Amino acid sequence: MIDDRVDNGRRRFLTAVTGGMGVIGGVFAATPFVLSMAPSERAKAAGAPVEIDISKLEPGQMIKEIWRGNPVWVVSRTPEMIESLQQVEGELRDPDSDNSIQPGFAQNDYRSLKPEILVLIGICTHLGCSPVQKFAIGPESGISDDWPGGFFCPCHGSKFDLAGRVYQQVPAPTNMVVPPYKYISDSLILIGEVGEA
Ligand code: FES
Repeated sequence: MIDDRVDNGRRRFLTAVTGGMGVIGGVFAATPFVLSMAPSERAKAAGAPVEIDISKLEPGQMIKEIWRGNPVWVVSRTPEMIESLQQVEGELRDPDSDNSIQPGFAQNDYRSLKPEILVLIGICTHLGCSPVQKFAIGPESGISDDWPGGFFCPCHGSKFDLAGRVYQQVPAPTNMVVPPYKYISDSLILIGEVGEA
């Protein structure tokens, strides 16, 4: 508690000095961090679009990037993985993505511009954990004997198919989010801008 007997002029001076030191200290504390960020990193942190090179992405593989602080996953789906999307439709909560978030171009059977390339925000729509990829099928997956491949959230057990669509009877309410994106070339995807293939 401040003692009212303290001289007000002296108190204002002390307040100004300590406040000023705080500002100066803050500037010095922040400067090395800002300077240490490369221009592209600063742009990323500010939400600029992010390019992802998929030229080395093999069928069945996934690569990860960060866009606006969120994990972005790009999966190269094999023909078998694409086929599985239709097989699981009866087990999904929102198979047509009517109540889920994606750009208009991704509200289709594949939730993507090209059937073989899936782009997702890698965050569970329940409470925001990061699901893990479970691409192995059957007992090898550790999920179930008839697991066709997909994603599994270890926090509370939500399951998603290979288009990020949520299964029934799990806590996650909606499909995983598809971010805006477009192809700059066959091997380069730009996350953060909408466009057609
Ligand atoms: S956060 Fe994923 S199931 Fe709860």
